[in-house]
Amino acid sequence: LVITVLSLGLGLGLRREKHQIKPVFLSRCEKFSGNNCQKIWDAFQQAYVNQDPCKVPVEAYDPLIAAAPFKSECNRMLFWSKTKDVVHDFTEKKDCFITLEDTLLGSVLDGLTWCGKEGSSDTFTTGCPGWTDCENNPVRSFWNRASAAFAEAACGAVTVMLNGSIATPFHPASIFASIEVKKLNATRAKNLNVVLVTDEHIVANCTNPSLKDLKKELDKGIKYNCEEVPQSQIEACASNPMAPCGTCW
Ligand code: APR
Repeated sequence: LVITVLSLGLGLGLRREKHQIKPVFLSRCEKFSGNNCQKIWDAFQQAYVNQDPCKVPVEAYDPLIAAAPFKSECNRMLFWSKTKDVVHDFTEKKDCFITLEDTLLGSVLDGLTWCGKEGSSDTFTTGCPGWTDCENNPVRSFWNRASAAFAEAACGAVTVMLNGSIATPFHPASIFASIEVKKLNATRAKNLNVVLVTDEHIVANCTNPSLKDLKKELDKGIKYNCEEVPQSQIEACASNPMAPCGTCW
């Protein structure tokens, strides 16, 4: 019985350990040198602890963004919508572009779920509202706030990879359309290069109506360009260490 109770306790303890977000946050954060990760954790936590998990506004993360601001990496910033896998496969293999998920805050929180509870100073990772359960949930508000700050920092030639295998590559409900495009500022961002990623079943090309909307929505002065690129070509480029960034596809 003693052994059973012990191993059960240990098992539960380990399981609880696995769901702890703080050690994951800190160890991912430490991979980026020159940051005070404990200070960044504190700024993160204050956004949602002790609060109704459906009432966390985007502004709650302002102190977090201030604690770990996005660098303007001119000509290297890459946005995406419905192309997550191909984009991150590319950025992992080649040091050409930086997505939000390659930055400190983006990489620390990618794939995580968290929320607080009224009357508690703890962080929970289960029982949290899903993306669409309520608008002002801690996870969605974070990504909305971070995406806005990342887009505000964009400068020079900006690239976005959109999905040519769906009817509306530039979807109004996406973070890219509803937040990021609106934050691109012509005094910093000079070009928007749309890479429409296609496979055998091309559903949308560069003449797609949603892309006309994208062009119209751009801040005046930002030059628009669109090219259709097969996914296989992007993958080949990612796997070729010799291929230069500029003329990769
Ligand atoms: N449920 C859960 N997660 C969602 C949902 C949803 N309904 N919608 C969006 N997300 C989260 C997921 O983490 C998903 O992987 O947003 C991510 C991207 O969703 P997409 O629809 O593919 O693209 P988009 O909404 O345009 O967001 C991508 O925002 O993250 C920034 O800079 C990044 O340019 C990128 C853009």
